Amino acid sequence: MSEFIDSILKEHRVFFPSEEFHRSSHIKSMKEYSRIYKKSVENPEAFWAGKANHLEWFKKWDIVLRNDMGFFKWFEGGYLNVSFNCLDRIIKSGKKDKIAFIWESESGETKKYTYEQLLKEVCRFANVLKKLGAKRSHVIEIYLPMIPELPIAMLACARIGAIHSVVFAGFSSDALKDRIQDSNAELLITADGSFRNGKVFPLKDNADIALKECPTIKSVVVVKRANNKIEMQNNRDFWLHDLVSQDDIKDFCEPESMHSEDSLFILYTSGTTGKPKGILHTQAGYLLFVYQTFKWIFDIKDNDVYFCTADIGWITGHSYIVYGPLSNGATVVMYEGSPTFPKPDRFWKIVEKYNVTIFYTAPTAIRALAKEGDDWPNKTNLSSLRLLGTVGEPINPEAWMWYHNVIGKKRCPIVDTWWQTETGGILITPLPGATPLKPGSATKPFFGIIADVLREDGTKANVNEGGYLVIKNPWPGMLRTVWNNPDRYKHTYFEKFGVYLTGDSARIDEDGYFWIMGRTDDVIKVAGHRIGSAEVESALVSHKSVAEAAIVPFPHEIKGQAIYAFVTLKSGVKKSDELKEELKKHVSQSVGPIAKPDKIQFADDLPKTRSGKIMRRILKVIAEGSTEYGNIMTLADPSVVEVLAKNRVA
Ligand code: PRX
Repeated sequence: MSEFIDSILKEHRVFFPSEEFHRSSHIKSMKEYSRIYKKSVENPEAFWAGKANHLEWFKKWDIVLRNDMGFFKWFEGGYLNVSFNCLDRIIKSGKKDKIAFIWESESGETKKYTYEQLLKEVCRFANVLKKLGAKRSHVIEIYLPMIPELPIAMLACARIGAIHSVVFAGFSSDALKDRIQDSNAELLITADGSFRNGKVFPLKDNADIALKECPTIKSVVVVKRANNKIEMQNNRDFWLHDLVSQDDIKDFCEPESMHSEDSLFILYTSGTTGKPKGILHTQAGYLLFVYQTFKWIFDIKDNDVYFCTADIGWITGHSYIVYGPLSNGATVVMYEGSPTFPKPDRFWKIVEKYNVTIFYTAPTAIRALAKEGDDWPNKTNLSSLRLLGTVGEPINPEAWMWYHNVIGKKRCPIVDTWWQTETGGILITPLPGATPLKPGSATKPFFGIIADVLREDGTKANVNEGGYLVIKNPWPGMLRTVWNNPDRYKHTYFEKFGVYLTGDSARIDEDGYFWIMGRTDDVIKVAGHRIGSAEVESALVSHKSVAEAAIVPFPHEIKGQAIYAFVTLKSGVKKSDELKEELKKHVSQSVGPIAKPDKIQFADDLPKTRSGKIMRRILKVIAEGSTEYGNIMTLADPSVVEVLAKNRVA
C-alpha cells in the first residue's frame, strides 16, 4: 500500500474528455458541473425533489427530507413501486421491445429479455412467491449465481413489497446461515448448482446445511441450473419450473404501492467487529439515487449497451446491474462466469460480440487481465467502447494507464467511482464529459454530496494531508439503518464526528480532487471484496488446533490486498505445512474462498498491549516486510516483534 500511496502522490498526469464525448454528454463541462453542484448542495431538497419527478409515483411525497433523531427519511408520504419504475414505466415510454438483459452463460449460451418479457417473468415469479405465502415486508433470502432468475427474483420481491436479502453465491453455508438467522427470512430462493471455471458449485447442498439451523425458512424455491444431483425435501423444496408453469400463475401481478421509506432490501457487509451488518436500503430514495447517478455518471444514451462485470450478490450488482440501469431503460449485459474462462479474453469477446459501449469493472480484474498481456484485447474488436468505469478499491496509476491505453484506446474516459454498500450508489466520481481525469483519483463529489477529509480531532485536514473521509450531509441513497441493530448504525457511522464516517482514509489535492488511500478500520479489501478481520479470525479460532489468530492485509500485485494470518496453536499441536493448508481450507469452508488467507505464520506469541489487546498495526508492518513498527515499548513483551519478523512468511 505504501508504494501505491507514493505513486499516487507523484501522479500529475491529467486526461481531458474528447471533444466528441464532451459535446454529446449529459454534463458537458466543469463549469456546468460547478453550477449544478453549487445549487445541489445549497438546496439539496429542491435538487432531489426535481429529479424525483422523473420517477412515476402512485402518490407524491409530502416532505422531501426529515431527520428523525439521526435516522434520515426521504420522500415521506410518497408511494411508488420500484419494479414498476424499472419495467412498466419503461414499457409505457415506448420501449417494450428494447432489450433489458443480454445474459451470457459461462459455456457461451445467450438469453435475451426485452422489457416486456422481463416484466412477464417478474410478474410470474412474483405470483409464485405470493402463492407460497410471501407478503409485504417478509424477508426473502436469495442465494443464486449470476443467472437471469437472480434479478428476476429481486424485482419480483420488489413488486410484492417483500424485502430481499441476496447472499453472494460464492459464500459458504455458514455465511448463508448467519445471514438468514439475522434477517429472519421466511423463504429461500436458490439453485441446484452454479458454474465457475467450468466446475459445478453445489449451491443447494450448501443451502441444505445452512437450513438445518434456520427454522424461520418455510419454503425453498430451487432454480434448475447445473443439473447436479440434489435432495429435495418434501413440502419445503419446490422446483421453480414446476411452480411457474402452474395454470393459476398469471402473466401479470399488480405492483404493491410501497411507502417511500418501506424497506427494499438488506445486504450484509463486513465491518470492524463481529458478524456482518445487514445494511438496509428503502424504496424511493435508493431508486432515485441509483437512477440519477447511473444516468449521469455512465452518461447513458438509448443505444448504449452496458456491461458491468460485478456479481449481483454485491452492492455494485444491485445498484448498477439491476436498479440503476433498468430504471433508465438501459440494455445490460450480464455474464455468469469467470473472466478467464476458457481464456483470458472472455470479457473482451463479450464486448465484441454484443457491441458493448460502456464497460464497468474492478481494478483487480484490470490488473489480472493486464498481466495476461496486450494480445488478448488487441486481437478483439473493442471499437464499440466509449466509456469505462472502475469500482471497489483504489486503482493504481499503472493499471489505470493500461485500461486507458489498451482497452479504451486513449478514446474512452474512465469513471473511477467511489462508493460503498452503505451509500447505495456512487458518491465521488468523474462525470465523463466534464471532469479532467487524474489516474488513481476518484476526482470530485457527485451532486448533492458534501465530502471532506478530517483529522482525528475533527478539524479539516490540509491540502494533501491524509485523514478520515466523511460525508457531511444526508443523500437519498444512504443506508437507513443496520437491520435489527439501530445502535450499531449510530455508533459505527455517526458517533466519531457526528457526520457520516465512511471508514476510508483519503486526501484532497490542490485541485479539490479526492484520492482514496484505503480503510482506516479492520476491513480488508481482497480483490475488491470486503472482508472483516473478525470473521476470518473467528473462522480460524473455530478450528480445533487454533488458540488465537490475528489477520492483517499485505499488498498483492493482482488482488490489491491479500490476507496474512498469524496463528497461535493450542499447546501440543504440531506446526506443519499440512496444517496450514488445512486452516486455509477451513476458512474457505467457513466464510468462502474469497476469505482464504494467502499466508499463514505460526506464532507462539502475538504482540499485545498490557491489557491484552492484539496490536494489528504492528502485525501489518511485519506482514509487509517493513521494520517501521513505531513505538513498541507499550507492548507487554516487545521481544515478540523481533521473533515474528524473523519468521515472516515471504
Ligand atoms: O474502501 C472503499 C472501497 O470499497 C469500500 C466499500 O466496499 P463495498 O461496500 O464492498 O462496496 C464496493 C462497491 C461499491 C470503500 O469503503 N472502494 C470502493 N470504490 C472505490 C474504493 N476505493 C477506492 N476507489 C474506489 N473507486
